[in-house]
Amino acid sequence: MRQSCAVAAAVLDKMCRFAKEGVSTYDLDMCAKSAMDELGCRSACYRYKGDSSRYPGYACISVNDEVIHGIGRKDRILKSGDIVSMDVSVFYKGFVGDNTRTVMIGECSPEVKKLVEATGMALELGISAAVAGNRVGDISAAIQGYIDACGYGIVRDFTGHGVGRNMHEDPAIPNYGRAGTGPLLRAGMTLAIEPMITMSRSADIFIDEDGWTVRTSDGSPSCHIEHTVLVTDDKPEILTVLAK
Ligand code: MF3
Ligand code: CO
Repeated sequence: MRQSCAVAAAVLDKMCRFAKEGVSTYDLDMCAKSAMDELGCRSACYRYKGDSSRYPGYACISVNDEVIHGIGRKDRILKSGDIVSMDVSVFYKGFVGDNTRTVMIGECSPEVKKLVEATGMALELGISAAVAGNRVGDISAAIQGYIDACGYGIVRDFTGHGVGRNMHEDPAIPNYGRAGTGPLLRAGMTLAIEPMITMSRSADIFIDEDGWTVRTSDGSPSCHIEHTVLVTDDKPEILTVLAK
């Protein structure tokens, strides 16, 4: 898991450095693909089976009101003020690493900067609660407490998840919930924690006609940040970091 997560982090880092004004989201997806080829890993998203079709991209690339599962497009050119979330899940030596970052393109509004910072803080707080002896609800409540206080919305239709030999394993990790409830966390569990936060309090979403892209109903911007984390008896270990 340490290795697959380090590789997932390396692919994501390459994409983040490539994401600039004038670059299309298709170019970003091709950047992901070539990084995966170079590192000898395979996208866990490519051809992933959904309700009506298989996911056609290598990484999920979601801009502004797109929450998750955006598909790279040649006619979607990044411009100053956009935020773009890039979600990279890879198979490497039989294990999955899963991580997401949202980057700001050029100059973003102070409101958008705050949203991105708050989502990062919510993830940090959620990770801090991922300790053996706690429950999943402790992670959820840490995220929800912070985001509610900010006045932002929490997307409820999608959650974080266990991750291991498969991308989506038990337990589900909602970004809302009550402390002290849910499955018990034990040392050795690996969890993908991933708040999906909307600027407006209403976090209603719908699925675009492409069958994949999840968008906010009111068009408000959305931020998504994710790490894969190892639960220990002591401090959680963030696995999706670049290898030293
Ligand atoms: N990587 C995403 C997650 O964090 C899932 C993407 S599945 C896809 O759970 F097929 F839609 F790409
Ligand atoms: Co995930």
